[in-house]
Amino acid sequence: MKVTSAEFVISAVGPKQYPTDGLPEIALVGRSNVGKSSLINKMLNRKALARTSSRPGKTQTLNYFRINHRLYFVDFPGYGYAKVAKSVKQQWGKMIESYLTDRKELRLVVQLVDIRHAPSKDDIAMYDWCKQIGLTTVVVATKGDKIARGRWQQHLKVIREQLQLRETDSMLVFSSETGQGRDELWGTILKYINT
Ligand code: GTP
Ligand code: MG
Repeated sequence: MKVTSAEFVISAVGPKQYPTDGLPEIALVGRSNVGKSSLINKMLNRKALARTSSRPGKTQTLNYFRINHRLYFVDFPGYGYAKVAKSVKQQWGKMIESYLTDRKELRLVVQLVDIRHAPSKDDIAMYDWCKQIGLTTVVVATKGDKIARGRWQQHLKVIREQLQLRETDSMLVFSSETGQGRDELWGTILKYINT
């Protein structure tokens, strides 16, 4: 998709701050440091609209980005980062849980996993949970540039098996460095916002 406008809208800490214009929403979930904010920037052709950091735990709220006045990307706080205080984690947990369960505008969950590693317990729990509540997921294996292309399939197989990827869900390789997977991911997203 040609991105003609992309703007940061709000860092929301709860439902009262979510947009009210009814545009479809795409949620970006995954463990801390997996590359959620970097992926958003690459999808939008922006260098630093979503803040990224080599220090995990950068994103701590639900950050809304409006694209072409047509849809929102919702950047999530990363899970699985030990150094975040327990009280803060519980607070995010509740916010994320109620967003995923109740948010009518949510059309698709983009779940990021690092292509180099087998999914973590948290990755599996998040995926299972999305399936239980009937959400459609596209699994994005990030940091594709970090391993040779010839080894992608072998790594995808491990991810597919460990997550027990459902037949209705798809998976693709992405790199925020090279743009690998960008067009394919836009294709998937457009399919779900047009229905
Ligand atoms: P939190 O906000 O902490 O949950 O992290 P995040 O998932 O938003 O990760 P972020 O986009 O901030 O990226 C974390 C680190 O990984 C940064 O140093 C990025 O430059 C790096 N990174 C992200 N995507 C890629 C990628 O595709 N390839 C490479 N080589 N590095 C990447
Ligand atoms: Mg982030």
